[in-house]
Amino acid sequence: MRIIKKETYEELSRCAADMILAAVREKPECVLGLATGSTPIGTYDCLAAACREGKATFRQAKTINLDEYTGLGENDPQSYRFFMEEHLFRHIDIRRENTHIPNGLAPDAAEECKRYEALYERLGGIDLQLLGIGQNGHIGFNEPSRALEAGTHVVELSESTRIANSRNFASLSAVPHGAITLGMGGILKARRILLLASGEQKKEALRKAVHGKVDPEVPASFLQLHPDVTVICDFSLTL
Ligand code: F6R
Repeated sequence: MRIIKKETYEELSRCAADMILAAVREKPECVLGLATGSTPIGTYDCLAAACREGKATFRQAKTINLDEYTGLGENDPQSYRFFMEEHLFRHIDIRRENTHIPNGLAPDAAEECKRYEALYERLGGIDLQLLGIGQNGHIGFNEPSRALEAGTHVVELSESTRIANSRNFASLSAVPHGAITLGMGGILKARRILLLASGEQKKEALRKAVHGKVDPEVPASFLQLHPDVTVICDFSLTL
């Protein structure tokens, strides 16, 4: 793993965006694996600015997001589709049909997982996967568990994740109990992985992910098995 420490969130975001822009320049038709949450917002702002200023184009790029809440549709402001439109897609020149997120309203969630898994294969896998990390060590919605799932699956969200995510909802009770997420297999098959962690509250999770044992109770620790992971954080992991 390559660890890059930045002084500020802005520097972290710039650095992550530069890596994504380089990937898109090198391979315009690349497949980007994307995440939601607070952490990548600054990165997405930088990508939007680069596109606005004519320094980048996503015309041929494709994206596949990690996850979506079950029960939320694309017009729901709390859905991850809504988040991606708001923070990235409507600010760049990507084609809507090239952006993929699980359908949280699919009548049969298990079927939706199969569709998403087949889509992943059809796209030819992910060239660069952007990840955040949960305070409990989750990536995507692969929650700490005695065993992790490889494929796209429906997950019941842990109470700590629901509490952490309730900041975006009117109340804790409004936070969905479930989600559809790419599994660890899909994440680990990405050719390159870029993990972002900002703020001291992520320090313990990142420390375990980078320096701890590979443990399904810390899903991010499985990234130690991947040959090409870059971590960008804005705190020191050694203190
Ligand atoms: C969301 C996702 C999650 C987040 C994680 C951190 O698509 O994949 O694993 O990356 O919950 O969220 P933030 O960035 O809000 O701290």
